[in-house]
Amino acid sequence: MSLCIVANWKLNGSREFNYQWLLDFSKSFNGEDFSSVGIAPAYLYIDHLKSIIADRDIKIGAQNIDLEETGARTGEISASMIKDLGCEFSIIGHSERRILFHETNQIISQKLIQANNNSVIPILCIGESAEENQSNNTFNVLEQQIIEAFENANELSSLIIAYEPVWAIGSGKTPNPEEINSVHEMIKDVVQSRFPKIGLESVLYGGSVNFKNASSLFEQKNVDGALIGGASLDGREFALIANVFNELRV
Ligand code: 13P
Repeated sequence: MSLCIVANWKLNGSREFNYQWLLDFSKSFNGEDFSSVGIAPAYLYIDHLKSIIADRDIKIGAQNIDLEETGARTGEISASMIKDLGCEFSIIGHSERRILFHETNQIISQKLIQANNNSVIPILCIGESAEENQSNNTFNVLEQQIIEAFENANELSSLIIAYEPVWAIGSGKTPNPEEINSVHEMIKDVVQSRFPKIGLESVLYGGSVNFKNASSLFEQKNVDGALIGGASLDGREFALIANVFNELRV
C-alpha cells in the first residue's frame, strides 16, 4: 500500500523520543499492516528510528534533500545518502523551507529530479498563503506551483503531492473538508492533464490535522491521506488518526 498517513516531525526528537513514540504508537495502532504509515524524522535520527522499528513495515523518509548529488555543499544531505539509510520517501518544498530557506519552484524542481533518480518517492508540498486564500487565488497559486515545479521534472515515476495551506499549518484552522476535496480534485486534474508522464499516486492534506477532524477529512473522496505535523509528535494520537483512516478507507 502506498503512503497515506505521514508524520513530519520537523525540528523535534531525540533517541529517547523515538523509543517513547514507538511504544505509544504500537499500543494504540489497531491495524496489522503498517505500510501506509510513514515518518520523516530529523536526518540524524533516521538510522536509530529504522533500527528500533525493526520488522514493522513503517516507511521512513527525510524532511528535505539537497538539489545536488555530491559536491562542495557543506551541511547538505543528498537523495542517494537517505536512500543508503533505507529511506523510501522525502518531503520536498515544504512551505517552511520555501519561506525560511528561500526555496523556489526551480530549486524544488531539481530536488524532485534527485529524488526520482534515486528511487526516493517525493512528497511535494504546495499551498497558498492566507492573503492568497482570502483573495480567492488558491487555484491559481497552486497551478503555478505545480507548473513551475514540473517544468523540468516532467517524468517522475512516482509522486505524492501534499496540499498544505500555509495558513492552516500549526494554526488549528483548516479549510472546510469540501473545499479541500475540490482543491485535491483540481490538483489531480492539472497534474494528469498537463504532465501525463508523472506517476501521481495520491494527494494528501496537511495543516492542523488531528484526531478530532480526521474523519471529516478522510470521508472526502479526493483526500488520500494526511501529512501531519504537531499531532504526529504524540505516538498515541498519530495511531488514532491512522486507525480512523484504516476504518474509513482501507
Ligand atoms: P501541523 O499538522 O502542525 O499543522 O503541520 C502540518 C505540516 O506542516 C506537515 O508537514
